[in-house]
Amino acid sequence: MIIAPSLLAANYGSLAKEVKRASKSGAEWLHLDIMDGHFVPNISFGPEIVRALRPMSKMFFDVHLMCSKPEILLEPFAKAGADQIIIHVELGEHVAPLIWKIRSLGKKVGLAVNPPTAIALAQPYLNDIDLLLVMTVNPGFGGQSFIYECLPKIQQAREWRKEKGLDYRIEVDGGINFQTVSDCAHAGADTFVSGTTLFGSRSLKAAVTKMRKVAQTACR
Ligand code: DX5
Ligand code: ZN
Repeated sequence: MIIAPSLLAANYGSLAKEVKRASKSGAEWLHLDIMDGHFVPNISFGPEIVRALRPMSKMFFDVHLMCSKPEILLEPFAKAGADQIIIHVELGEHVAPLIWKIRSLGKKVGLAVNPPTAIALAQPYLNDIDLLLVMTVNPGFGGQSFIYECLPKIQQAREWRKEKGLDYRIEVDGGINFQTVSDCAHAGADTFVSGTTLFGSRSLKAAVTKMRKVAQTACR
């Protein structure tokens, strides 16, 4: 079980402090949402911010690119300190070369699927990825409600993984709270991105511990 607080929900006025807070929380990963104002109707931050935050934490940097032209951003984010780069399956014919490029930069590869997109579109790439991200809200903003219709996709991802003897992680992102984390873990997710619920807690550490416990209990 990996818990990945999403920096999108942190206080942008004191990002360095927030990253240190996440670092001390017991969470293994930090999820970094990159929005370009085109693929999604919002803008977050770029590689220079990631570069500035990198020395403040040993956490695994999980960089989620919600961008129409990730090809121009892969190298900058790799150099800035990303450990994994997630691109979206909605990019169609660009997906295969993007996966190859991320790999060639020596980074782990994630592939994300938006709520309206069929999970079958990800199937041809399963051999080539380290993580499949099942989006559980339409990307663009934190604080949205979990879309329950996405749960069967998590089950499908788990079935394929077993059938094919693969070992990609199954991540969920969007509307993850102490209830939905349980539903997702039960369906087969093992990696949980959570912004509002975790960063909104007075003790991030207690919230991470609680979220992990709920997830572990649900998949027993
Ligand atoms: C949504 C982002 C998420 C977001 C999740 O566009 O990809 O990572 O930060 O935030 P919450 O947990 O608030 O739904
Ligand atoms: Zn994300």
